[in-house]
Amino acid sequence: MTDLSANHSAAVTDRAILAGRAYKTDHDLAARQSLYQWQTPRYDLPGLVVEQLRQTHGAVADVGCGNGKFIKRLQEDRPDLRLLGLDVSLGILAGVPGPVAVADAAGLPLRSASVDAALALHMLYHVEDIPGAISELDRIVSEHGIVIASTNSDRDKAQLDHLWEQAAGEVLGVERGPSRISLSARFSLEKAPLLLGQVFAKVETIKLPGTIAVRDPEPVIAHMTSYRAWAGQHDVPFEETIGRAREILTAHIDRHGAFEITCLGGFLVCSR
Ligand SMILES: C[S@@+](CC[C@H](N)C(=O)[O-])C[C@H]1O[C@@H](n2cnc3c(N)ncnc32)[C@H](O)[C@@H]1O
Repeated sequence: MTDLSANHSAAVTDRAILAGRAYKTDHDLAARQSLYQWQTPRYDLPGLVVEQLRQTHGAVADVGCGNGKFIKRLQEDRPDLRLLGLDVSLGILAGVPGPVAVADAAGLPLRSASVDAALALHMLYHVEDIPGAISELDRIVSEHGIVIASTNSDRDKAQLDHLWEQAAGEVLGVERGPSRISLSARFSLEKAPLLLGQVFAKVETIKLPGTIAVRDPEPVIAHMTSYRAWAGQHDVPFEETIGRAREILTAHIDRHGAFEITCLGGFLVCSR
């Protein structure tokens, strides 16, 4: 969906929803991350970040580090780096190797030029003032340091949006139901270069297209259900829509053997 109303922005940036529900634990985030095991080609995302940090020495801050997927890999592959995980949700930091701190990208508790790289992976779309958070990333990174952001395209997983609209339509008895909330729309792969380019002289976009093919509806249903923190933002009963989506998906897989989802995500590597 492309509705970027004030309501949409308020919902995807709401601290009570983010820290208190969506990312209180990593349950819903893990459901979204795990769907990629059925993607072709498979991208080693933490490995790509390790590769981009090959010239980086010193300290790296992972802002909005979530369940620490990237920190854990960096700890293994680059034990020489000093890593710091920051997130607005205390709960999601539980399993992240320290040091970690609860912090908001809007005002990072770090001195200017105190890190050599900052990561902001799939998180800037949750920040109320995106240009303000990008300025913060710029402020904390040293002169020759880099910032790596990531996000999804507006076209990412369009089949899931379509499935939701079909299911919601059937629940409401209309041809096509209301769109589900888009988490990444405020900082999509299409918008990100311009926003980052306001601050960084060089912004390299690495696009990662792929196709997910599943023969079992459940991983897709788990991905869809991971939006439950925003259930109230959908003008249709959430659980009932999920139930209907499961039936549609099961019938599709029975008939075609698989359900395919096209994906487009990417990294933006920024320097001065
Ligand atoms: C989609 S998850 C991404 C987690 C991780 N970076 C990854 O790519 O796997 C977004 C994370 O950003 C955090 N977050 C949201 N708004 C934030 C903010 N203003 N400052 C810091 N973290 C924030 C959330 O709590 C959540 O853990």
